Amino acid sequence: MKRFELLANTMADEIRSGRRLVGSRMPSLRQLTTQHGVSQSTVFRAYYLLEEWGLIRARERSGYYVAPGAALKQPLASKPPPALASARVEISDLVFSVLEAAKHPNVVPFGSAFPSPKLFPLQRLARSLAHSTRLISPWSTVVDLPPGNEQLRREISLRYMAMGIAQPMEELVVTNGALEALNLCLMAVTRPGDVVAIESPGFYAALQAIERLDLRAVEIPVDSVSGLDLEALAHAFETQPIRACWFMTNFQNPTGATMSQEKKKALVELLARHDVPLIEDDVYGELHHGAANPLPARVFDQKGLVMHCSSFSKTLAPGYRIGWVAAGRFAGKVQRLKLMTTLSASIPAQAGIADYLQHGGYDKHLRKLRGALRNQLDTMDAALHRWMPADSHWTRPSGGYFVWVRLPHHVDAMQLHRLAIENGISIAPGPIFSAQHAFRDHIRLNFGHPWDERTEQAVKTLCSLIKLSSQ
Ligand SMILES: Cc1ncc(COP(=O)(O)O)c(C=O)c1O
Repeated sequence: MKRFELLANTMADEIRSGRRLVGSRMPSLRQLTTQHGVSQSTVFRAYYLLEEWGLIRARERSGYYVAPGAALKQPLASKPPPALASARVEISDLVFSVLEAAKHPNVVPFGSAFPSPKLFPLQRLARSLAHSTRLISPWSTVVDLPPGNEQLRREISLRYMAMGIAQPMEELVVTNGALEALNLCLMAVTRPGDVVAIESPGFYAALQAIERLDLRAVEIPVDSVSGLDLEALAHAFETQPIRACWFMTNFQNPTGATMSQEKKKALVELLARHDVPLIEDDVYGELHHGAANPLPARVFDQKGLVMHCSSFSKTLAPGYRIGWVAAGRFAGKVQRLKLMTTLSASIPAQAGIADYLQHGGYDKHLRKLRGALRNQLDTMDAALHRWMPADSHWTRPSGGYFVWVRLPHHVDAMQLHRLAIENGISIAPGPIFSAQHAFRDHIRLNFGHPWDERTEQAVKTLCSLIKLSSQ
């Protein structure tokens, strides 16, 4: 981290922890240069950064002051010190122990990665499954091998067309959920020992894949306002032999951040300059709460470097395990890896989803699902406002179904996770989203389940555990 970033982070922490009050004057240039032994330009750059984060405001001829509402605007993903070098990853034990604890059906699933099954048209989907399997040709067991069911790939490519992307069907490979697509892409472009750039905080399955394939990770900071830190990525390209990137550009898990179109374009340009592939995980892109899908970085790709992965697991058919990758220039390799590892995605499930996409009213269902998630976010947000202690903060994402919460000072997310489980509530503690097990002061909460009295009570209980832990 550069000097001005270190200084900015130190002062940001002081503001977040309440040690610098809203409206109070920030130290003068002279004070800071003497106190920290840095140049005036370092202090200026630190102040510009704090201003950009919405934490301070300049008053003409009077200096800088802590901004009103600073706490709400600040990036919630307090940046962990970026690893100086790439590192091996050991995360699986931690992730498995957290996920195991949350599996029980009686536990309130704030830690879950899935939305409620009640939000999906499972009956209508079952009709499509029954209809299509009755008509299925015995030859489909051969014909629908990778790259996959042709009708399904046609329907998927039509959805790309609706986003303005001409997606050749030949580059689409159907997989067992997005997770397999992501893993196959990583296998296609790396060898053991290679360095991969990932997000911090980021989806724990990326960490697990890196661990399993014996790769090394460089963590690129993400903040909940603007997403990936492109400057840090550019710096990493200069200093590390990065072979691949694995990022979420829309409704990032866990922060909910969405990168602007300009930033996605700049990202793809940066990748093209270094000829480094991007594995783009876009499983939540369709779950926007606004009027239209944010477009993926794939839109800007001219060189076939972006492998765009998604699935129907979060939007239509949990458990059917149908996902895909638009794999660009790596499609042939991904397809062969698919054949070598699990041979094929389930043939009836592919046919059933293809039939549903043609006749089932997918877009209507998506509109309803988005409306439900938007309402549930409002309810979760209101409940957090009611019960959370004053010095905690959380995001209000514009899509997906996670809020990323920064806990008050002294509250440890792992300890809170254990306490919450004892009280029948699961949460996703920050350390599972980081190779360095950072973000001990963060948790991720799922609002993808219809609200009821039990949920409201669970938020109340969780918040009282947080209050108790902060004393
Ligand atoms: C960010 C992210 N990517 C990928 C996946 C996996 O998707 P699928 O269930 O389609 O394999 C998940 C599921 O939790 C996820 O949260």
